[in-house]
Order: sequence, then C-alpha cells, then structure tokens
Amino acid sequence: MNFGTVPFLSVRVRDDEAWITWLYVPPGLRRHGVGRRMVEAWEAHAPACVRKIRLLAAEVDDEDPIPFWEKLGFHDDAELPWVDEVPMRVMSRTLPDR
Ligand SMILES: CC(C)(COP(=O)(O)OP(=O)(O)OC[C@H]1O[C@@H](n2cnc3c(N)ncnc32)[C@H](O)[C@@H]1OP(=O)(O)O)[C@@H](O)C(=O)NCCC(=O)NCCS
Repeated sequence: MNFGTVPFLSVRVRDDEAWITWLYVPPGLRRHGVGRRMVEAWEAHAPACVRKIRLLAAEVDDEDPIPFWEKLGFHDDAELPWVDEVPMRVMSRTLPDR
C-alpha cells in the first residue's frame, strides 16, 4: 500500500480508552525506531484520562505488525474473523499510573 513518504500516527480518545486508528512508517524508514518513537511520544503526552490503548492489528505490505506491537508492550485482546484473507487482532496496553 502506498500511503506516501511521511510517517503518521492517528489516535482517537474516548473516555478512558484510546484507539490507535493508523500507524504507518514508509518502507524506506522502517526498523530505525520511528514507529516506536511516535507511539511512545503520543503516550508521553496522552490525556490524563487515558488508561488503556487499543488497536486493530492487520497486515499491511505483507508484513506482520504483531511483533512490533509486542515489543512495545501490547498484548492480544481478541482474535477477529479474517477480513479479505487478512488476519485481524485486537491488541491493547494498559498505561502505567501517571
Ligand atoms: C509496523 C510499523 C509501524 C513499525 O514501524 P518501525 O518504525 O519499522 O518500527 P521500529 O523501528 O520503531 O521498531 C520497534 C521494535 O519493533 C521491532 N519490529 C518492527 N517491525 C517489526 C516486524 N515487522 N517484525 C518484527 N519486529 C519488528 C524492531 O526491530 C524494534 O525492536 P527493538 O526495539 O528491539 O530494536 C511499520 O512496519 C509499518 O508502518 N508497517 C505497515 C503499516 C502497519 O502495519 N501499521 C500497523 C497497523 S496495526
């Protein structure tokens, strides 16, 4: 998938939960800590009400993102039915007390 050349992260906050709706690092920038830094920077400035971060992990560019999320401390919440032959999982991370 071609989302352009700029990394981006989008998050929606509702009550005490945040959903990461998109995280994308262009192929040429991957594995240099960009994805980790974006997520950790968001967490560091997350609204105080946020207790848990959730996301829907789906394969993009034939690369499994789940090991990336596990490295960032996310755990499996639920497995969903495959969509268009792509496995989907809900993963989450509870934020430490701030
Ligand atoms: C998943 C994605 C955001 C990772 O971004 P990135 O900038 O390459 O990740 P980082 O370099 O910050 O990696 C952080 C850690 O995860 C590891 N990691 C990253 N991608 C990985 C992968 N596909 N498989 C295994 N480990 C991976 C890195 O080695 C690094 O480990 P370390 O901290 O021990 O050195 C990026 O590959 C991407 O945009 N993929 C396509 C879109 C996508 O799948 N988005 C997520 C949708 S749920």
